[in-house]
Amino acid sequence: MDVKKIVAQMTLEEKASLCSGEDFWHTKAVERLGVPASMVSDGPHGLRKQDDKVDHLGVNDSIKAVCFPAGCATAASFDRALVQKLGEALGDECQHEGVSVVLGPAVNIKRSPLCGRNFEYFSEDPYLAGEMACAHIHGVQSRNVGTSIKHFACNSQEHRRMSSSSQADERTLREIYFPAFEAAVKREQPWTVMCSYNRLNGTYASENQWLLTDVLRDEWGFQGYVVSDWGAVSDRVAGIRAGLDLEMPGSMGINDKKIVQAVKDGKLDEKLVDRACERILNIVYRFVENRKPETPWDKEAQHALAADIAGDCMVLLKNEGDLLPLDKDADVAFIGEFALSPRFQGGGSSHINSFKITSALEAAKDAGLRVTYEPGYSVKDDEATDEMIEKAVAAAKGAKAAVVFAGLPDSYESEGYDRAHMRMPDCQNRVIEAVAKANPNTVVVLHNGSPVEMPWIGKVRAVLETYLGGQAVGLAEVRVLFGDVNPSGHLAETFPLKLQDNPSYLYYLGEGNVTEYREGVFVGYRYYDKKDMDVLFPFGHGLSYTTFAYENLRLDLGKTLLENGDTVKVTVTVKNTGKRFGKAAAQLYVGALNADPIRPVRELKGFEKVALNPGESREVSFTLDKRAFAMWNSEIHDWYVPQGQYAIEVGDSSRHLPLRTEITLGDARELPRHYDMNSIFMDLMADPKARALLKPLMEESSRKFSGDQAEGETEAAKEAVSEAMGEAMMRYMPLRALISFGADEGTASKLEEIIRQLNGMS
Ligand code: BGC
Repeated sequence: MDVKKIVAQMTLEEKASLCSGEDFWHTKAVERLGVPASMVSDGPHGLRKQDDKVDHLGVNDSIKAVCFPAGCATAASFDRALVQKLGEALGDECQHEGVSVVLGPAVNIKRSPLCGRNFEYFSEDPYLAGEMACAHIHGVQSRNVGTSIKHFACNSQEHRRMSSSSQADERTLREIYFPAFEAAVKREQPWTVMCSYNRLNGTYASENQWLLTDVLRDEWGFQGYVVSDWGAVSDRVAGIRAGLDLEMPGSMGINDKKIVQAVKDGKLDEKLVDRACERILNIVYRFVENRKPETPWDKEAQHALAADIAGDCMVLLKNEGDLLPLDKDADVAFIGEFALSPRFQGGGSSHINSFKITSALEAAKDAGLRVTYEPGYSVKDDEATDEMIEKAVAAAKGAKAAVVFAGLPDSYESEGYDRAHMRMPDCQNRVIEAVAKANPNTVVVLHNGSPVEMPWIGKVRAVLETYLGGQAVGLAEVRVLFGDVNPSGHLAETFPLKLQDNPSYLYYLGEGNVTEYREGVFVGYRYYDKKDMDVLFPFGHGLSYTTFAYENLRLDLGKTLLENGDTVKVTVTVKNTGKRFGKAAAQLYVGALNADPIRPVRELKGFEKVALNPGESREVSFTLDKRAFAMWNSEIHDWYVPQGQYAIEVGDSSRHLPLRTEITLGDARELPRHYDMNSIFMDLMADPKARALLKPLMEESSRKFSGDQAEGETEAAKEAVSEAMGEAMMRYMPLRALISFGADEGTASKLEEIIRQLNGMS
């Protein structure tokens, strides 16, 4: 469709009006010109298509659909193919239902375990979040349905989400908060990007020209339309200028009128309105022209897929003495309401109206397992009465093993507000303690969107983290507990021992409307590793019913001075050394070993999920590009690889990396240097050109200085400053010190000439 031609025929009023939604979920039609409306819906882990009663907080019903595991769970799969499958299923649903864009994936970084929306987000790690985002987008868009990667950017808290300003420095944005968006835009071209509610360094994302145009379009090459988060527009005219194309859900025409007025007053270039319209129509027509309404939506088949996905996301955190998997013939007590009615999704705009839910209890009964049930606690009353606990204990005593289904009730975490603490409900903790005392074979199965403290961790033998595993979670739980599925999930975030350990703890909610991201790039394991802190479970951790060996790390390092396009290839062998089929999540980390500049100890730069039969081994290769070693340099405003040593580590968690090697490399470019009288010798001496030019002057000065001293020097003075100490002190002297200490009258002008030459030369 020639959208330019359509836009050329539209009146200013029609164009302004196209830049906001018709209602909650539709763009506007322009009947006069035959332009159709198009529908968008949430997202991200299921379709929340609403008919009549609409809202953006998941309060009102939507059509019956399939709730897949949430982002917190799918990221733990470390499996791109799996996430892509989820995306394909979503895309099919949208084709079937006529939804042009499904709002997701949500890729905000988990800065604190407290963020109420962490359950929708992928990770504390930008690389993992980016890979998952690409897989999700690839899947959905392969069905000619659009995605809306969200919330751009720095929406890592719900507290004051529509007014607070996330204050982050350039390097932190580039290294932590942007890469997931960047990877997705560059590699997958999401049809739309959703800007966040918050301000970024003072300016609302919805009117932030640097964010929406300079970075997103000019640098990364984004071609779709930018949509506001629902109600995120503050100044609509500024938004049009900045690159916010579509306002959702609209503002009863008020903002449309402002756009018209601004054009008429000469304050807004009409071309910018045309630009927004063209971008919106491009996407509207992309869907219309690729419609496949006959696409079937087999909900039962997708329920089965949801169970398969959930099984591969679950993280076996602890399994002392191989308690799991449980014997299928054993008497097992299921305790806890979540065994009967699991918590499998979070609250808010992502809330799916599941057509069916399978609990663990139902799945166990269907499988003919010898399972008894006691509620143990009440979710509604957030309470465990003495009687409930007694009954749970009795059930546990009468069984070979006890499985407590626990976690966070809905009210504890949701879109719209943050958690106040990292604890589980007291009543559930009490039930776990009591059951663990009654039966040494106690397993805890967790349902939560974000890390919790585990005061009972030393008292239970096994812990299975299911996160929010979607509507088929119970089926997947039973498969994992009884060994039909070998767990292979790995944590996409660190579980700290306590909330206070988290790097954002001191500043998380900020003051008033200002939230400073003061921990900078040290988010999650980047912080815990740098400080060498104990954690409850590290990033990347996850056990299996089999064992894997990591062997034979090989490197193919072409050059040591890297240019764009250069790569380093790393190959390892992963072997299943146990007795069961299983899937390993091989992880590769890169760490800069130089003390200067300040960088994390290690950063995830590659991972592969590898399925292996017992005894089988496979070669796994990782291709590291220049970016894998780079950091953001705020002087040149670009990625740069400081010259130095780098560690490459491979293993199955950020704290278990049996393979390690070191390489020396750096950027092929030289950083521009600028010198003045305050430049210090240490920096000057590291630059061969400066060293050569300064040498004669320094020798002269040192001769004079030591000559002067020698005449009156006492033994005590000699002892006070050794030669080595003198040299060490000298390193921090500025150039102008040559004028103050022991120079002749000509030194100043000689230095000025040298500085001039050096600056000219660089
Ligand atoms: C959420 C978005 C969501 C939108 C539409 C907002 O409140 O932040 O993630 O897509 O509502 O429901």
